[in-house]
Parts: sequence; C-alpha cells; structure tokens
Amino acid sequence: MSQSIRRGDLEALDRADPLRAFRDRFRLPEGVIYLDGNSLGAMPRATPERMREVVEVEWGHDLIGSWNTRGWVDLQQRIGAKIGRLIGARAGETIVADSTSINLFKALAASLELRSDRRIIVSEPANFPTDLYVAEGLMRHLGRGHTLRLAEPDDIEDAITDDVAVVMLTHVNYRTGRMYDMRRITERAHARGAIMLWDLAHSAGAMPIDLAGADVDLAVGCGYKYFNGGPGAPAFLFVAQRHQPHITPVLSGWFGHASPFAFEQSYRPAEGIDRLTVGAPPILSLTALEVGVDLMLEAPLDLVRAKSVRQGEIFDALMGQEVGRDAFTLVSPSAPAMRGSQLCYAHPQAWPIKQALIDRGVIGDFRAPDILRLGFTPLYLGYAEIWDAVAILKAIVVERAWDTPEYHARSLVT
Ligand SMILES: Cc1ncc(COP(=O)(O)O)c(C=O)c1O
Repeated sequence: MSQSIRRGDLEALDRADPLRAFRDRFRLPEGVIYLDGNSLGAMPRATPERMREVVEVEWGHDLIGSWNTRGWVDLQQRIGAKIGRLIGARAGETIVADSTSINLFKALAASLELRSDRRIIVSEPANFPTDLYVAEGLMRHLGRGHTLRLAEPDDIEDAITDDVAVVMLTHVNYRTGRMYDMRRITERAHARGAIMLWDLAHSAGAMPIDLAGADVDLAVGCGYKYFNGGPGAPAFLFVAQRHQPHITPVLSGWFGHASPFAFEQSYRPAEGIDRLTVGAPPILSLTALEVGVDLMLEAPLDLVRAKSVRQGEIFDALMGQEVGRDAFTLVSPSAPAMRGSQLCYAHPQAWPIKQALIDRGVIGDFRAPDILRLGFTPLYLGYAEIWDAVAILKAIVVERAWDTPEYHARSLVT
C-alpha cells in the first residue's frame, strides 16, 4: 500500500463490506474497538435468549427429561458436525468436548498409540505452552522413553525424520501469528510415516480450513475464540475416519462407551468419534457455543479470510504511516498469506501501552515478555475502527500516556 490511507477510504470500505450486516448480530459495548476476538470472541446477540430458554424451560421446567427430549444427549455430536463443516472435515470426524488441553491429551495419546513403535514427538519451542505441557505430562505418565524434539518453524520439515511418531503443531502461532502450510507439513509427516496433529485454536473460524483435503490425521481447537462460544467454551476434536477404529481412548469414560446406559462393568469403546467423549457434557456451555457456531455457519469463510487479510494489511500500513516504523517491531510475518488473523508487535513497554489502549476503549492483549497482540475478527470489526485504533495508539505513544504507575501494574490475566 504505497499511497497514504485516509479515514474516509476506510469508511468507504465499510460501506461496501459484504460482511457488514454481521456486526449487528453481536453485542459490543458502545465506544469499544475490540481487537481481542482471537482470544475471547464477542457475544452473539442471540446467546442470552437461547441461554435463558435452556435454563428456564429445558432445565427449569423439563428437568432431566431434556436429555432425551431436547437433544442434550447428542449435543456434542450435533455441534461437532457443524464445526466439522467449518474446518473441512467429513461427517462423523468432529466432536465437541472438554477443553483444548484435554483434547490435546486425548489426541496425542491416540497418535502415540497409532505409532506405538516410535518414540519422538516433533513440535516447536514457541508452541502454545499447554501443548508442550500436555506432551510432557503424557510422556512422563507413559514412562516409555518418549521425547519431545523441538525445532524452529523453518527447521520443522528437517526435524520430521523416519523415527518420528507424531508431529504436533499449532497452525497459527499465538505469539507471532505465523501460519504453517498445513498441506505441506502434513505431507512431509506422512512421507516419514508420522501422524499429523494440528492445534487449530487460532485458525478455526478465522479462515477456510480443509482437513480432509490436507489428509490431516487429528486436530483440536477452541470454542471461545473465533467461534464466539463464550469464556471457557467447550473445545473440538477431529479424528480422521480411517484412524477411529484403531483408537482405544486414554480417557475411557462412560459417555464414550458403546452403551453408556447399559452400565456394563468394563469399557467398550463407542463406534467412531463418539468414543472420544468422556463424561456428561456441559449443556449450558454447549448451548452458548452452538449459537456462536450457527452464526459462523452463515458467514462465508473465504470472505472472512479476505477481510481479515485486508484489515491486517491496513493496520500495519497505518502503523508505518501514523506511528512510525521504528516505534514497534512487527514480529508477525510481513507477508499476509503467512499469518493468521492477528498482528503482533514487540515493544519494551507493550504492557503499559496495552493498558492505556484499554482505558481508551481499544481492547487488545499482551503476551509476555513484550508483545502487543491485536486480533482481527471480520464479522464485528469495521475498517474505520482500525483507523481509530491506530490513531489512539499514536496519541498514547506520542504523549507517553502509557507511563503512569497504574498502567505499569500487572494483572493476572494479560
Ligand atoms: C494454541 C492454543 N492451544 C490451546 C489453548 C488452550 O486451550 P484450553 O484453555 O481450551 O485448554 C490456547 C489458548 O489460548 C491456544 O492458544
């Protein structure tokens, strides 16, 4: 973008935006520019009413009968099937259950079982910590000499050798926004006989994903980011059909039993992906998640991705134009095709700057030690808001408005 950008240009983009109508489907406080939907998605307007119905009627009136009459018993499958359509899965390959961390544990354990003659898990040192923690815990628990081989993103392909059991990577990195070529890495893993396990926390719902087309083995992802399912929303788990019969779940709970209400003494896995459910599902949380997922199903993901790429390009161009190239260091790839739906900038004062931004209605987040992270959620973020966010950031930097004791004070959640 060589010409200078004016706010009016962005207002024109908003008027022509094919996704514009989605904005009104979310509840966002007046005066807030929300650049954190990549961490906690905004609330769909329909969520409170649907929650009220489930609480007051399905639970409050119909009580336990709702497991059968209101479809509670297969809610995990129903929402899983919907998410499956958003990530390019085939029918019967996706389930909603538990948290991403727990699904990672289940998926990694299954992957190691599928390659029981191998002992190496490949990942990257800057993967989201829970992914590495889960791997560490599982390896310790198994006690069979598994090791974690951590390689930098550019060296990942070389790290996938013939003795690797599983390649476990996050598609879009949480601290840099860097995105892997899913097809290419999956192909490489398969060429070396390894299982490919993707964490889609920062890409599912933000862009078209084709798990079947890329021949992915297993994947997990979040419900509370781009699916707008609410804080701590249940997560999803994908297992390619070809592997399902060969997996004996490590968390063999009664909901994953072939016949849960037969109350048999011994575990027999259910058919297909159902065996990867564990216990009674959190119906209230699933209800909120379904509203968010239904809304996403209305949004063409190619348009979502195109707008997110454009918003990222505009934001970064404005950073150069308004704030100055030297003030912040872009740690996300400069090529839009190489990054997810976020931009990350390093700055020694990233924490107080983020606090000052929030005080002025611009909500982004901070990732230690020095990253200001700004997410683009095209369904409810307008182009002109990007201008306003950068203008506010510029004022904070120029006036050193971040340099006050209260902005320096740290909170627990960043
Ligand atoms: C890449 C990635 N994986 C996993 C998680 C954590 O998921 P959960 O809290 O559902 O276990 C996150 C959270 O932000 C994440 O960014």
